[in-house]
Amino acid sequence: MSSPPSKRSERTRTRARRDLELEAGTSAHYEDPAYYTKTYRSRLDDVRFYADYAAERGGPVLEYGCGNGRITLPIARLGLDVTGVDLSADMLADLRARLRDEPADVRARVTTKRGDMRAVRLGRRFPLVICPFNAFLHLYTRVDVERFLARVRAHLAPRGELVFDVSIPEPEELARDPGRAYATPRFNYPTPDGKGMPVRYTERFDYDKIRQILFVAMEFSPVSGEDSWMTPLAHRQFYPRELEALLHYNGFEILDAWGDFDRSPPTRDSITLILRARARRR
Ligand SMILES: C[S@@+](CC[C@H](N)C(=O)[O-])C[C@H]1O[C@@H](n2cnc3c(N)ncnc32)[C@H](O)[C@@H]1O
Repeated sequence: MSSPPSKRSERTRTRARRDLELEAGTSAHYEDPAYYTKTYRSRLDDVRFYADYAAERGGPVLEYGCGNGRITLPIARLGLDVTGVDLSADMLADLRARLRDEPADVRARVTTKRGDMRAVRLGRRFPLVICPFNAFLHLYTRVDVERFLARVRAHLAPRGELVFDVSIPEPEELARDPGRAYATPRFNYPTPDGKGMPVRYTERFDYDKIRQILFVAMEFSPVSGEDSWMTPLAHRQFYPRELEALLHYNGFEILDAWGDFDRSPPTRDSITLILRARARRR
């Protein structure tokens, strides 16, 4: 039974609105690299994990969603070549600026490429492909994942490995009331003059349980009374068994699953899932 035209166009409008929300939720959080750097400066366990793993495995390394080089640079400093792919021009410009402060040998080891990890063709293969810190959660549909994994396969050397980590869906977080603003302590938002701007910071969470996408609205209100602004972030939620199936049906075998960056096994209390996978021979 088809729906009346008015219902159909309403649905199309809704879909178009949500897709814009997804585009903004993929890019907005990465438009201010100074804020990104400040926010995640104490997140070091994953940096150590990826750098150690790359050193054990050997390069060159392909990093999908390299951002402004939080993980890329430590890997390059260990003497490995890294190619970083990212969608965000702002993050890549910041990575290139940070590279200017590195010694010439480190600079020479990093190649950056602006592009979509679902589509970029680099024309070479790597023994290790990584996709750190929830970059995978920007793959919102089955087709996105299939396109991504096809690109991984095309860029993997024989017996090469894919290593990535995702936050595990947390039922309590997904059940949060979208009408409620969750406040966190005020802080100094980084500004170009280096002085910073004191802001109040709240987050709202709106979970679309059909598409399994968590929409986060990060709201910043300057204490001075200047205009506030909102940064959206959209993260697909992947359940562990779903990831296992997606990898399996796209021709990958899981070699290891870890529940923390110290390589301990996943438990019911784990908040992160780290997977090491290899393409199965056809
Ligand atoms: C949470 S950041 C991780 C950045 C860096 N790896 C780190 O650990 O700090 C996710 C990155 O994925 C990038 N990204 C999102 N969707 C992408 C896509 N389809 N293709 C390439 N990069 C993408 C974003 O621009 C962002 O820089």
